[in-house]
Amino acid sequence: MADIETAWTRLEAAAKAAGEKRIVELFDAEPGRLEALTLDVAGLHLDLSKQAWDEAGLEAALDLAHAADVEGARARMFGGEAINSSEGRAVLHTALRAAADADFKAAGVPVMAEVETVRQRMKSFSEAVRSGAITGATGKPFRAILHIGIGGSDLGPRLLWDALRPVKPEIDLRFVANVDGAEFALTTADMDPEETLVIVVSKTFTTQETLSNATAARAWLVEALGEAGANQHLAAISTALDKTAAFGVADDRVFGFWDWVGGRYSLWSSVSLSVAVACGWDAFQGFLDGGAAMDEHFRTASLEKNAPVLVALAQIFNRNGLDRRARSVVPYSHRLRRLASFLQQLEMESNGKSVGPDGRPAKRGTATVVFGDEGTNVQHAYFQCMHQGTEITPMELIGLSKSDEGPAGMHEKLLSNLLAQAEAFMVGRTTEDVVAELTAKGVSEAEIATLAPQRTFAGNRPSTLLLLECLTPQTFGALIALYEHKTFVEGVIWGINSFDQWGVELGKVMAGRILPELESGAVGTHDPSTSALIGRLKV
Ligand code: F6P
Repeated sequence: MADIETAWTRLEAAAKAAGEKRIVELFDAEPGRLEALTLDVAGLHLDLSKQAWDEAGLEAALDLAHAADVEGARARMFGGEAINSSEGRAVLHTALRAAADADFKAAGVPVMAEVETVRQRMKSFSEAVRSGAITGATGKPFRAILHIGIGGSDLGPRLLWDALRPVKPEIDLRFVANVDGAEFALTTADMDPEETLVIVVSKTFTTQETLSNATAARAWLVEALGEAGANQHLAAISTALDKTAAFGVADDRVFGFWDWVGGRYSLWSSVSLSVAVACGWDAFQGFLDGGAAMDEHFRTASLEKNAPVLVALAQIFNRNGLDRRARSVVPYSHRLRRLASFLQQLEMESNGKSVGPDGRPAKRGTATVVFGDEGTNVQHAYFQCMHQGTEITPMELIGLSKSDEGPAGMHEKLLSNLLAQAEAFMVGRTTEDVVAELTAKGVSEAEIATLAPQRTFAGNRPSTLLLLECLTPQTFGALIALYEHKTFVEGVIWGINSFDQWGVELGKVMAGRILPELESGAVGTHDPSTSALIGRLKV
């Protein structure tokens, strides 16, 4: 096996050579390309054949994965070693979706008994709230949940709710994340405290935004129900049980998780209690099962046929081989419209690092910007730039093979757009073709000379197409687990720790210094711009 530097050099050379070819011509040049680059896993169909790699490029990417010892790293993660080295923690979100009798250990200590205990408590609680066995202080059943959290304590559950929510839920679910009071005001304006369960979600229970919103929610409950009544409307999710008690949440309303679950990987834990209540336990269990199915595939499949590995390698090929510094993820599914926001945290918080665990600079570029929104809407927004802009941005286009939601015929239209965009990105449209069309329409030669280049599409823009059989808790779970493992594989190849997030600290500390200055007007030492702004904004 090549050493890692040799493997990187080979990948870079192979990508340079592949980048000079036209993707669409690779199908004829390399028979078997489609079969080699499509796979079906856990209800997902993945087509990586419209990526820019040729056979040699794919081989070089796979060699790089072997040289980086992705298989060894994978075994260490599933084995519960403390691979989050800067925090001395194991990384075991996979245990959260495993069967009760699975054998997961964090640094040698079995974890499944505790995981199962919390799962059973979540199940009983969600069933009791849904059945009305647990009610609010005045005896009315809960008709709404206010989920308060931010980052990993918000983005995953929000996406999960959108994906699985009934069209007309018996229990509504609302989210508040930002410390901008407008969000709290707008979200709670039409909620009735008497029928609302407030679930405060914070791994650390120290996050300013969450604690501010939790305090506001508590006051909102107290105003309507009094102190004792308010407590009956509170639940909390945290690893900091001392702090939840200090906030006044009864112990039997606190659901824990563990330090081996990173915030952005926590939607499989009690962090999603609100969704389990609002959608019902079976839906949540189906989500866990889908994640477990993807885990089994990722853990056991060879790298060559491993979906998360191949999706990660496509990203590395684009990012490091072809210097593509952004990626757009576009679900052709309204229910998945927040996927890119979720992935921004998953990928950019995990892999947005410039140094490795040894403190040395990363030798190659790491996480790219990821952005996106739902198709077809984005076709009428930024796709112009994707088709004809000067930057080439690789795309992931996601769709549902089947959907019976909504009026008949609309899903086919959605799918036709999905397929058309993927084809158009790759094939483009030649100037000759445009000239022929304009000539046939009788456009003058002079006009054609200026119009034809503007209406030409260079194409050769890479994309991956991902289809869920249909949107079920299981396929959705598999999709999220796919992205988690993709992110992990990239981190291994880039040689960084994907499980810490020191980069979010500095701004928090500085905001803590500025707040009292805004309140008191006593401006401390800052750069001239910041001092002037504090002076302007002080209360
Ligand atoms: O943004 C940093 C971060 O720590 C994320 O990793 C986490 O998801 C989020 O803040 C919220 O943290 P907590 O759940 O502790 O409130």
